[in-house]
Amino acid sequence: MKKILPILALLTLIACQTKDPVEQKIDQLISQMTLDEKVAQMTQLAGGQITEDYENLVRAGLGSMLNNVGNEINHYQRIAVEESRLGIPMVFARDVIHGYRTIYPIPLGQAATFDLALVEEAARLTANEAIQAGIRWTFSPMVDIARDPRWGRIAEGYGEDTYLASQMGAATVRGYQGQDSIIRLAACVKHFVGYGASEGGRDYNTTWIPEVQLRETYLPPFKAAIDAGALSLMCAFNDLNGVPMSANKHLMKDILRDEWHYTGLLVSDYASSENMIKHGNCANLKEATLLSINAQMEMDMENRSYIPHLKELVNEGLVKEELIDQCVRDILRMKFRLGLFDNPYCSVEHPDYYNAESLQAAQRAAEESAVLLKNNGVLPLNAQPTVLVCGPLAHNQHDQNGTWCFDKLDSATITPLMAFRQWDKEGKIRLIEQLGKHWSREVNEQNTVQLTRLAKQADVVLYFGGEESILSGEARCRAHLDLPGDQSEQIRAIKATGKPVVLTVMAGRPLCIGADIDCVDATIYAFHGGTMQGPALANLIMGKVAPSGRLPVTFPQTVGQIPMYYNKKNSGRPTSNPVLYDDIPVGAAQFSIGADSYWLEYGDKPLYPFGYGLTYTTFEYGPVTLSDTILPFDSSPHCLIASCTITNTGNREAVAVPQLYIRDLVGSLTRPIRELKGFQRITIPAGEARTVRFELTADDLAYWHLAEGVTLGADGAYTCSAEPGEFHVWIAPNAAEGTPAKFILQD
Ligand code: NOJ
Repeated sequence: MKKILPILALLTLIACQTKDPVEQKIDQLISQMTLDEKVAQMTQLAGGQITEDYENLVRAGLGSMLNNVGNEINHYQRIAVEESRLGIPMVFARDVIHGYRTIYPIPLGQAATFDLALVEEAARLTANEAIQAGIRWTFSPMVDIARDPRWGRIAEGYGEDTYLASQMGAATVRGYQGQDSIIRLAACVKHFVGYGASEGGRDYNTTWIPEVQLRETYLPPFKAAIDAGALSLMCAFNDLNGVPMSANKHLMKDILRDEWHYTGLLVSDYASSENMIKHGNCANLKEATLLSINAQMEMDMENRSYIPHLKELVNEGLVKEELIDQCVRDILRMKFRLGLFDNPYCSVEHPDYYNAESLQAAQRAAEESAVLLKNNGVLPLNAQPTVLVCGPLAHNQHDQNGTWCFDKLDSATITPLMAFRQWDKEGKIRLIEQLGKHWSREVNEQNTVQLTRLAKQADVVLYFGGEESILSGEARCRAHLDLPGDQSEQIRAIKATGKPVVLTVMAGRPLCIGADIDCVDATIYAFHGGTMQGPALANLIMGKVAPSGRLPVTFPQTVGQIPMYYNKKNSGRPTSNPVLYDDIPVGAAQFSIGADSYWLEYGDKPLYPFGYGLTYTTFEYGPVTLSDTILPFDSSPHCLIASCTITNTGNREAVAVPQLYIRDLVGSLTRPIRELKGFQRITIPAGEARTVRFELTADDLAYWHLAEGVTLGADGAYTCSAEPGEFHVWIAPNAAEGTPAKFILQD
């Protein structure tokens, strides 16, 4: 024993000396903090103004504020650093979701670019602007999978597909945070988890998601963002399987901490402790606090529930102070990684907003996010046409920016009308301008009469319609997915003049506008594209740039088909030839429509499939070839190479977006009819061909299913692995086209 003690002491000394210096500083700070100071550190309050109450809270050690910018940040930070007992700096947060001043397309539009490098670049440039205002923590990216376009927040995420959202979320994290040891802008991946599955597409609503589906569909984008280094995570508002996410121990502890070993910060959503009372999961804030802290929810956003209830709970022995220390440790670590202890202030002098680099990236992102849905040949416009530019989004400096942009200047936004004025000035078109509507919900027959009169003088009518920005985003859910107001009537009246009509839709979600699209000559689906959307759209319409956006989400024909997504299961009775409503003879009692899975009015097809998008040339996809027909199960280092030659059969250069899909024909749990596993953007000159190659390993074929011998329903009974058998592989222009090659995954 005598010999062992000095050895132990030596080992402890070595351990202390080798401990990361930041962790040592954190330990030192925590050892000096009172319980009150620790709890204050775990609280984030909504600022936006200077008050004595807030100043006192900051003096008492408040951890964070959201919504302040610039001088206000420096004001509170000075108090934190100079007047709080331990001088711990605060971290200031804000929802910088798709740009700070320079606005990029809404995230759903960014996903339509299928361009990871560009999305990363947009996030990097966003960080450049936000940090100048003192914002060091953004509540982005939102990686909730959304398969219901009624849900207003579909605008804020990357669409319906887990693989695409995972890639986009990770790229965004890399862009915000940078590669240096000092993180520039901390990302906060949200909303953990399942929020996008809100019943009926109604925000904040209940979600019921079986664990295999959580693991297969909803969790991977969070894991990908964490693997990309995301410093923080936000809990969702929804209750998941009966437990509000702000206190869902199974997800936040068992999976996030114990299984994934996540060591970053976990913050609640805004006032979500209070929401737990309304969810009916606890009677008061003290109970909410107990449930949340036990799930290791580390920072309480805009609630005063941790102050004072956490201290009471510790004193009553219901919460261990070690757990509090763990939370504070994660908060302080983020502050160290942001370099706030060395550089707590922001320099508000000479801000560099809207610089050329940002504007160029914003324009390119808007160009690449626009999806050409239909074109009967009217686009691109021929030389020097007379164009009528009209519609509620033609000149709307606020709405084209979409949801979540607090800090943009409307005056810096360039609309389509402004861009076409420039083309007119340069003598490349003759412009007739008449909006005919100032906001999307407006109804005014007189305006329509005026538009039809002007349309007769034009060679082509460019109608910019869609949704005002306030109709999508948080709490903005819709039951109808049509063009608001009398836009459809206006479009029909204009078309009745016999002039070609190009409809450009700027919206926060997919709209069910098949009838409007049928009526016009071309449709560009542009989402809300931000500061530079005007020049971007003009370039596309005039053919200076060829469209390259692809749909990141399935467009249903009608609301009644929702939820509709490409990677659905086959069902036991898929349809090949549906008998439709109007095909059923009236009164034919003996007529059989069979027994297949579809809707009588619409069959089983969407308006447009996931991954769809046209351009100004045509691409022919050759057959998919595989490097082998057998993939050995112990895949590494084995992989299959799937390749395909794509030929540009038109007469101009454009970007093809080949997508790699697989199907696992037989699984111990039924498998989707297609799953995206890769994509590329490749520029192909007119008349030329390019061969694209994708690698596939057994890991790419793995999915979550029950471990052998386990009964359905037991949590933690799942395993992620591939199962031997036959697989199909497509390299296709979208989720509905192509002919698969086949291979066997062999045991
Ligand atoms: C509520 C939203 O759900 C969340 O996404 C946002 O970051 C916070 N409010 C803070 O504004």
